[in-house]
Amino acid sequence: MKSDEHQNILKIKRTARNKTITLSKQEINEYGKKLLKVSNLVSAKEIENKIINSDLFEAEKHLPDSFVNLLFIDPPYNLTKNFNSRKFSEMSVEDYEKWLDSWLNKINRMLKPNSSIYICGDWKSSSAIFNVARRYFIPQNRITWEREKGRGAKANWKNCSEDIWFFTKSKEFIFNLDDVKIKRKVIAPYRDEKGTPKDWEKHEHGNFRMTHPSNVWTDITIPFWSMAENTDHPTQKPEKLLAKIILASSNEGDLVFDPFLGSGTTAVVAKKLGRKYCGVEIDEYYCCLAEKRLADTKKDISIQGYSDGVFWERNTLQEQVRLYSKNNSAKKDQNLAEADLFSG
Ligand SMILES: C[S@@+](CC[C@H](N)C(=O)[O-])C[C@H]1O[C@@H](n2cnc3c(N)ncnc32)[C@H](O)[C@@H]1O
Repeated sequence: MKSDEHQNILKIKRTARNKTITLSKQEINEYGKKLLKVSNLVSAKEIENKIINSDLFEAEKHLPDSFVNLLFIDPPYNLTKNFNSRKFSEMSVEDYEKWLDSWLNKINRMLKPNSSIYICGDWKSSSAIFNVARRYFIPQNRITWEREKGRGAKANWKNCSEDIWFFTKSKEFIFNLDDVKIKRKVIAPYRDEKGTPKDWEKHEHGNFRMTHPSNVWTDITIPFWSMAENTDHPTQKPEKLLAKIILASSNEGDLVFDPFLGSGTTAVVAKKLGRKYCGVEIDEYYCCLAEKRLADTKKDISIQGYSDGVFWERNTLQEQVRLYSKNNSAKKDQNLAEADLFSG
């Protein structure tokens, strides 16, 4: 990263309630020392729980075969966008497909036979992702994530969704359904003839049902300034989104690989959920943000919107806080005040 851009980020002024994770010069120096550079073939053990600060096209030559259980890819979308000092420029659909293929065909050898693959894109990039990835993998589903933040347009529909394609390497793969059910408020609390609740449970703060998760995700908020996971990365994914994918498609101890790691969300959530991680990111500042977030997991392994092993639907934070801070009234008041600031 160019030093003047470092300076600009360091200069941004924030309000007291703003929880955005930032880095001092000293932290950049300190976390920078943890980053791995690879110049020879490395073993799976050597890259376990490591962030590789490199261009993917350089790093891939040195990574081993068959070390990945779950691959999560959030590549630059086919849009013109600045990632710190580097710019990704929009290209034709054909060229974007060639670009996707140029690294996907190399990552393929790194996957274990029963691995799962998730690839994110917006509507413009989505068809290219499908066309390229199906050359190597079996398509299983396309998740539509409704993210409520989006830029309005004068003569078009506001863009408020993203696609996450789900592929597997073979027909044998894991899917831990029970780990990703959603806790929803019950609107019509039906009872059977004996008066027993049908598929729902009565709690002190309402009636809830555990439902099967669909491929339309409406319960996840984009990180923003009042959330503890927020950074200055322009396209940071929410921890809750990664938690669903990692819980559904990997087991404890498995390795999750992210070749475009950004601010480190995949690595952080993998660590919080007892998985191993490895990530590649070209930008040193983003790598250091990821290292800081990983260091913070020593103090806090909570994932907003996922508590006590349960995914909650949006706008239930008040209920979550009431249920889980019953014995700590000071924390409860603080959390409830924060709950007013966001839903997630
Ligand atoms: C869409 S962002 C990923 C954001 C990430 N999921 C997060 O939660 O922060 C894509 C990332 O890929 C990185 N990148 C772009 N080209 C790269 C390359 N050739 N090698 C490695 N990283 C690259 C960018 O710097 C950017 O941080």
